[in-house]
Amino acid sequence: MSRALHAFINELEHDRALREPGRLRERGDVLDRLETWRSCGSPCEPAVEAELRDRVEALCAELEAVDGRLCQGIRQDIQRGVGAHGLLEWAGAADTEVQIRGDSYDYLDALVSGILQIDEPEARLAGLAAEMVFYQPTPARHVFDMLARAALDRRDVLIDLGSGLGHVPLLASICTGARCIGIEWEAARVECARRCAQALNLDQVTFVQGDVRAADLSAGTVFYLYTPFEGSMLRDVLGLLKVQAAAREIRICTLGPCTATVAQEDWLQVVGPWEIHRPAVFRRI
Ligand SMILES: C[S@@+](CC[C@H](N)C(=O)[O-])C[C@H]1O[C@@H](n2cnc3c(N)ncnc32)[C@H](O)[C@@H]1O
Repeated sequence: MSRALHAFINELEHDRALREPGRLRERGDVLDRLETWRSCGSPCEPAVEAELRDRVEALCAELEAVDGRLCQGIRQDIQRGVGAHGLLEWAGAADTEVQIRGDSYDYLDALVSGILQIDEPEARLAGLAAEMVFYQPTPARHVFDMLARAALDRRDVLIDLGSGLGHVPLLASICTGARCIGIEWEAARVECARRCAQALNLDQVTFVQGDVRAADLSAGTVFYLYTPFEGSMLRDVLGLLKVQAAAREIRICTLGPCTATVAQEDWLQVVGPWEIHRPAVFRRI
């Protein structure tokens, strides 16, 4: 066991390719394995274990520093208004991952987190009412997939209904130049999202605190729902979207269990193939 671990660490210490910025995914896999070892240790002599631990710590620090520089470079490009390219390169790489990984998070989420650097809320959360669904961010590869499937562009206004910490409007605005609005019940999360937009100089993104049912939806051309609510609340919001759809062309994008409910609406039709574990896009019939 200890010999195998020595060999593995030795190999990693000499693997120059692993230090190339583009090998993000491979670094993520290696860091996961090293993290498992860090938390479990191995049945070796204490002196051997201490030496291995030092080498593992040094390796992790070195690989994390490569990731940090990659994220910082893309972040600075975004701040200068030229960040779309760097992000979209990674979005392209995500294409094949969409099917395989379902709802889990992966190296792309780590990349997005390192780029956006959204704070965790400091203030107390207000708490959710019945039928509101707790916060969980859309995995990054699904955000990129949704933007491509909805063909979002700079003429659109995307509204994320229940936007949490704001990943979707932030990424959508960076990647497409579209105006993006997030509506979120939890004021503390809205504050974090606003701070992030400001730090990245994204003046096309705004966040509104409030209940989606009372919000102004009149600017939206694309609405996104990652199952933010269920039951009668979801039906009420679909009623509001139907009113919007009567006035102009809109697309509705969904991910998660709410897709099945949206698909039953007789005024909507799904665009393209609808696959489980992928965002779906609907238009008015
Ligand atoms: C599953 S999370 C989705 C977060 C975000 N859209 C994303 O995909 O990363 C659902 C979010 O909807 C918010 N929410 C639930 N009901 C709401 C309502 N009626 N009005 C505004 N926000 C609501 C929750 O606080 C939570 O942050």
